[in-house]
Amino acid sequence: MNLEETIYKRQSCRTYNQTPLDEQTITDIKTFISNAKVLNENIDWSYDIVTKEKVKSLLRWDAPHYLLLFSEEKENYKENIGFIFQQLDLYLQSKDIGSCWLGMVSPNSSYEYKNSQHKFIITISFGKSSTQTHRKIEEFNRKSLEKIMDTSDEKLKPAQYAPSATNSQPWYFTHNSDGSYNVYREKLGFIKRRMIGKWNPIDIGIALAHMYITNKDTFKFYIKENPKDLKDYSYMGSFEL
Ligand SMILES: Cc1cc2nc3c(=O)[nH]c(=O)nc-3n(C[C@H](O)[C@H](O)[C@H](O)COP(=O)(O)O)c2cc1C
Repeated sequence: MNLEETIYKRQSCRTYNQTPLDEQTITDIKTFISNAKVLNENIDWSYDIVTKEKVKSLLRWDAPHYLLLFSEEKENYKENIGFIFQQLDLYLQSKDIGSCWLGMVSPNSSYEYKNSQHKFIITISFGKSSTQTHRKIEEFNRKSLEKIMDTSDEKLKPAQYAPSATNSQPWYFTHNSDGSYNVYREKLGFIKRRMIGKWNPIDIGIALAHMYITNKDTFKFYIKENPKDLKDYSYMGSFEL
């Protein structure tokens, strides 16, 4: 299965076989990460693959591997992390390896930071799943296209299927007269902002990764100086397909 097909089959995995993946598979994962496309070349980021002994988790389940993601805190660093590592989420699931973005898991006190300039952003669990890693398209629980854009456009379907923190799907797309698109993030009320606000910029990067994977040769992302304001949304960027 290729990465584009995986968009419509993937699902978060929360039941893992605890046997670690073999060394070759881990090497392939690292190679994939080093070749992934970035959203913003200006931002330095890093990652580490650790076992459960190095993480603090509020979850009732464990995974054999945890990918800890770090970044410099500048510009659109959270979108950048979401963009890069959603490509990996698709890669893993295309190889029948389960994965799940985890806002609730972070390095514990025994973890030694390797780069003091990089802040911890988020974790992804991964490993062989003890249950099914894929699902049918009708099993996805997502907002309709009409709810996430100004005019319904099948071209943006890959973004509709993107995963997000608590499945909040905070993205909103508008069409520009030159054929490009703007992407906005839903502004949250006080309570939701405290719960998931810090992850929603990552969600936007994740949705953009789906747009990149399905338009690899033409996808171009940029931030406009004077974007159109939308009530209840924050402008996150523009892209061409
Ligand atoms: C930024 C982010 C943070 C997430 N944090 C958690 C988490 O802490 N625990 C969890 O079980 N799932 C977490 N998820 C997974 C989402 O709940 C899941 O992606 C969403 O419900 C959609 O389901 P799907 O991934 O199966 O399509 C997170 C997802 C994202 C994108």
